[in-house]
Order: sequence, then C-alpha cells, then structure tokens
Amino acid sequence: MSADIWSELAEYNKEIEATSLVELFERDPARFETFSITLDDMLLDFSKTSLDETARNLLVKLAEASGLADKREAMFKGARINRTEGRAALHTALRNRSNEPVFVGDEDVMPGINDTLGQMAAFASGIRSGEIGASDSSAFTDVVNIGIGGSDLGPAMATRALAPYHNGPRLHFVSNIDSADIADLLKNLDPARTLFIVASKTFTTIETMTNAETAKSWMTRAVGDKATNHFAAVSTALERTSAFGIAPERVFGFEDWVGGRYSVWGPIGLPLMIAIGPEHFTEFLEGGHAMDRHFRRAPLDKNMPVMLGLIGIWHNNIRGYGSRAVLPYDQRLARLPAYLQQLDMESNGKSITLEGEVVPQKTGPIVWGEPGTNGQHAFYQLIHQGSQVIPCEFLVAAQSHETDLQNHHHLLLANCLAQSEALMRGRSLAEVIENLTAMGASQERLDAAVHQTFPGNRPSTTLIYRKLDPYTLGRIIALYEHRVFVEGVIWGINSFDQWGVELGKELAATLLPLIGEKSGLDEKDGSTRGLLETIARLRRK
Ligand code: F6P
Repeated sequence: MSADIWSELAEYNKEIEATSLVELFERDPARFETFSITLDDMLLDFSKTSLDETARNLLVKLAEASGLADKREAMFKGARINRTEGRAALHTALRNRSNEPVFVGDEDVMPGINDTLGQMAAFASGIRSGEIGASDSSAFTDVVNIGIGGSDLGPAMATRALAPYHNGPRLHFVSNIDSADIADLLKNLDPARTLFIVASKTFTTIETMTNAETAKSWMTRAVGDKATNHFAAVSTALERTSAFGIAPERVFGFEDWVGGRYSVWGPIGLPLMIAIGPEHFTEFLEGGHAMDRHFRRAPLDKNMPVMLGLIGIWHNNIRGYGSRAVLPYDQRLARLPAYLQQLDMESNGKSITLEGEVVPQKTGPIVWGEPGTNGQHAFYQLIHQGSQVIPCEFLVAAQSHETDLQNHHHLLLANCLAQSEALMRGRSLAEVIENLTAMGASQERLDAAVHQTFPGNRPSTTLIYRKLDPYTLGRIIALYEHRVFVEGVIWGINSFDQWGVELGKELAATLLPLIGEKSGLDEKDGSTRGLLETIARLRRK
C-alpha cells in the first residue's frame, strides 16, 4: 500500500514540478491560510513550499499507511518501541503535566517522575538561594555541566535560549575531550565557588568521565576532601556515580526509557532549572506538553509536527533535496542547529528498517544552520545562487525581550521575511537588466547581468512565535522531536537507537595505546599508520 503511495507521489510530482511557487500564489492567493498551521501564539507557514492540496493529501495518506497514528499512541503509552534496545521512548512522560498515569510494563512512571522533579527543584532552589552552599558554606557563583551529546546539547542550547530568565549562578558547559575545553574554562573559575554537575546517562562516556576526573583533581587541589560538596551527578547508573564519590542525595536518576537526545525534560535539564528557576522550568515542560497534546489530537493535515515531517519527506524523497538548513532569526537559539543535528541525525541517520530490510528511500537529511542574520553574510550565497536546492526552515519571534531596542528587532524581522521572499521570487535576467539600465549602468555591467540573477522557486518554512519564553522553547523542541518521529515512522526505522556511534568508540580504544608509538602499528591500514607515525614524529619535536 505504501509502495503505491510513494509511486503516486513521484508521478504527481512530475505533473507539478514545473509550477513555480510564485505561480502557486497567483493561482491561489489564499495559499497562506491553507498551508499554515496555528497553535495558540505560534504559526508554521509552509505556503512557500511546492505542496498543493493533492500533494498534501497524498503525503497524509502515506502517513496513515505507515501506521503513524498507532505508532504515535504506542510511544505515548510506553510501549517498547525502541526494539533494538528493548526499551520504551518516554520523554513525553517527563513533561506529562496532565499527570495521567503512563505505564512501562506494570509500573506507572508518573510518581517517580514527579518525585525526581521535586528533588531537582529543591536542589536547584537551594543552589540559587545559597542554602546549598560550597564547602566553606558560601553560595555557588558558577555551575559547570560536564556532559556530551544529549547530556550537553539540550541544557546548553536551552540555557542560552532562555538567557533573559537567568537569575541564578552563572552556567557553563564542558563537553569536548579536548583539554582546551575544560582548561579554558577552569582558568576563569574560583573552585571555592564552583559546582560541577557530571551528566551522563551511562556514566561511562569517555569524554565526560575524563573531564569529570580532571575537574575532581582541580577541586581536590583547592578544597581537599571537601571536594565532594562541589559535585552532583545526573545519571541512570547509580553505582557508578557512587564509585566516583558523589553523595547519593546529590544524584538525580532517570530511567533507560529516556534517550540521551530526548532527555532535557528531566534531570539532564537540571542546569537549566538552576539557571531559570523551577517555575520557569515548569513552564518549559508545559510548552512541551502542549505540543504533545496537539501532536496526539490534531488531524494529520492540521498537525504541526506531522506536516513538518511530511514536508521533510516531500523535500528529501520526492524532490531529492538532501539537506535542510535551520535558520533561527533568534540569536539565543544559536545552539539550536547543533541540538537538532543530534536530535535529527542521530535519530534518523539509519538505513535499515525495524524489520531488518534496507530502507528504499533516502533517510535522515543533513541538518545544518546558523542564526540569521549572520548566515546571510556567510553561506546564504549558496542557498540563493548555488546549484543545490536547500529547503530553509526559518524561526523568528514576533517580539524581542529588549523592548528598548525595537529597531534591532524590526530589522531582524524584515531580514527574515526578506530571505524567504527572495528565495521564492528570485530575480530574472530581464529584471536585472531593467534595474541596471535605470541606474545608468555601463555596457560591461549589462553584459555581466546574468551573475545578478536568482533562480528563485526555492522552498522554505517559517515558524513564528510571539516571544522566546520557556513555554515556547518547550513547544519548539517538542515540535522537532515529533517531526523526527514522524519521518522515522514513514521510513520504518527505529529513531531511538544510535548503534552508528559505536565503531568509532571501539577503534579509539584500540588506537589509544598507539598514540606517540612507532612500533606495533602493523595491524593498521596504510593511512592510519602514516598518521600515527606523523603524530609520533611531531610529538618528539
Ligand atoms: O555517543 C553517542 C551518545 O551515546 C549519545 O546518544 C548520548 O547523548 C551521548 O553519547 C552521551 O551519553 P551519556 O549521557 O551516556 O554520557
């Protein structure tokens, strides 16, 4: 059945391929109303994509045929949908503000989630007020989260996004195993006023454990055996946290049914809660929950995550565009593209279905991006005039937090809208020549007019929200999580495992003893051997 719909989509695409976005608007001036979805004070505009009603209906049929509705319910209800790891994927329970029971097997997980939230809130409030102090009882001024991947990107991105709500200690994030990361940070910190949160679901990740050991030595040198007062942990591995020396009351546990890249809603969000306070953190959860309700209840063609997912499928699989750019016109969302890279590419960077077959379609596209307007002065050249079409996903707030700097925000908004308009309209040779002639340009300039043309007809979506507050950030993250889920369901893959990261980790372990060595390299290929020999030579100089 799905195979037929894929063919129908491909056939239909051939029929409409030649119709430009501008023509679509000429034919249907009310296109914006038809091809946009509103959820309270948030709107997703996808009228500047080539979808028409037939294409949309076919895509919705594809979603139905893939069993999206049942699979969505299975996720929310705690079924073990992460079959390759034998687990549920229940990040939605972490933000389940309805408190309706959610069962994993026979156990309702909501009481445990609420207890942990209470424990987090007590700790965060204690740190913020100074009641929970450093080893000399003074208040912590700096909190450092040590984690990587899902144990870093979520809290780091969200903490930056919600800077206007910070009223606690300063937050820092260390993730890379590169000594530069921790060394550059520690230089500026006073150990006596610093708290480390070691965040690792497994508590085995080499980057995090190496950074945590370095932090512990640094702290021990400063405060001796009181160093443990300066550590907390977030992990599912309670034995390992205690072996590291972190007091049990400073350990915030979570269950294996929360995937790393979906974990910001629970204890991994502790740094965010310390930064913005438990009340704002609750608003963040409420935003995520509001998107969950919408995703569960709204008809598929009026459903924001579903339509964002289907647009992704249309661009990737029907139109053949292999990447998508995430372009927040919101400087505080500067880390959103990096966050979405993990969310999207670690979830859907798979090519084998849950049934063990090769996926016939291209799966996860390359996700990349930078905030506007900065990107305009860097890579937008390629987006506008390059030979690849890159669907762009703009995000922008109607209101800024800086009420005294409205001129900035008006410029930001105008630039954001200008980009999607320019991508759609383009500029023809005739227009360029007309402009140049009106300006009295020389013949030489007129002869080079083709370089100033823009092909146009390049698709984009725009997500507009009132203001980047905790509730809205929660909605945005949940929107993208569900979009990734929708696409994964359509391809029939498991969006919740990440076996693809393992091989590199294993090989790193075999390479470690060879660093700086000249012998024992025979088992390695010629390139790896050459690189090892070069490293050994350069390290001796
Ligand atoms: O290597 C990939 C990964 O497992 C991610 O999925 C995860 O978010 C990250 O490493 C960190 O893992 P942990 O929280 O166990 O340290």
